[in-house]
Amino acid sequence: MSLRTRFIGCGSYLPENIVTNQELAKSVDTSDEWITARTGIKRRHIAAEGEYTSDLARQAAVAALDSAGLKPNDLDLIIVGTTTPDEVFPATAVTLQGQLGLTGGAAFDIQAVCSGFIYGLSVADSMLRGGTAKTALVVGAETMSRILDWEDRSTCVLFGDGAGAVILRADNGADESNEAPGILSTHIHSDGNLRDLLYCAGGPSTTGNAGVLKMMGKDVYKHAVTNLANVVVEALEANQLNPEDIDWLVPHQANRRIIDSTVKKLGLAEDKVVMTIADHANTSAASIPLALDVAITDGRIKNGDLILMEAMGGGLTWGAAMVRW
Ligand code: UT7
Repeated sequence: MSLRTRFIGCGSYLPENIVTNQELAKSVDTSDEWITARTGIKRRHIAAEGEYTSDLARQAAVAALDSAGLKPNDLDLIIVGTTTPDEVFPATAVTLQGQLGLTGGAAFDIQAVCSGFIYGLSVADSMLRGGTAKTALVVGAETMSRILDWEDRSTCVLFGDGAGAVILRADNGADESNEAPGILSTHIHSDGNLRDLLYCAGGPSTTGNAGVLKMMGKDVYKHAVTNLANVVVEALEANQLNPEDIDWLVPHQANRRIIDSTVKKLGLAEDKVVMTIADHANTSAASIPLALDVAITDGRIKNGDLILMEAMGGGLTWGAAMVRW
């Protein structure tokens, strides 16, 4: 049994093509003013034709492996959080495993929509501390652009494509205090009674093909504000920590106003929040590791910092992770 799961690498990838609000306003009845005021989004990256979720995941994974100084064969677990897999099967994680040239270990996907990265961290943490694996790659990767109705202005302006990845390692030497680096705790929840608030219908068992994303935006918003407030308190209490102990909030980037509401409830200073929504939009499971990588690369996140991550998405699913970097 290992005491703690440590982060030893991080990387991300964004497709080259950037679409601004102004460009979107040429094809749907919207405006830069509306999108900016209601969401904080200014632009999003969109995958090229023939560029798949596994391609985005691979680029992020290679960057994360590089930052950890590891080779693919050092991994014995790959988890990909995605709601836009390449295919019905095999799992995108398995496709990624093949692309990395890895022949051992286990690979599987997690479907928890925008909470996919937090769910992935939670599962990997249990497996690493339980001794099932030693070194894990956890990826959040999405091509949300493929499941959008590009004529529905209430949803198509909100999402983007991208991938972020972390490398985790079981650490037998760590002590159990909340000062020691690694994942301090994860907290995951879902409520399937609310499935109709945010969904993408279709699939092998029903209509065959994937449909398009549908969202009751106002209702999802209300649940997001409440559930995220509750789960961040749960994460703080589980570790006997206070809001003022948090160095960085790295939230899922769905709406600037939702993030602001969590920040206000916690009484956090605005400069303790990693905000990437303007440039990335909502990249679902990819948004947290993308934001994490931005703040590590620009030097904001430093060793020893306390980081709180939180997300909510379709399902509804939601969760949080408390991490000592
Ligand atoms: O990541 C997964 C979880 N997802 C979320 O957390 C998203 C949660 N929801 C939200 O972020 C917000 O509800 C939205 C950003 C989706 C919408 O913001 P809102 O303030 O709830 O707007 P609304 O849906 O109530 O729409 C207000 C008005 C409507 O017009 P009327 O009925 O007031 O005349 C909409 O038709 O804005 C209109 N509208 C737009 N106008 C211009 C909706 N979309 C657009 C648009 N451009 N793109």
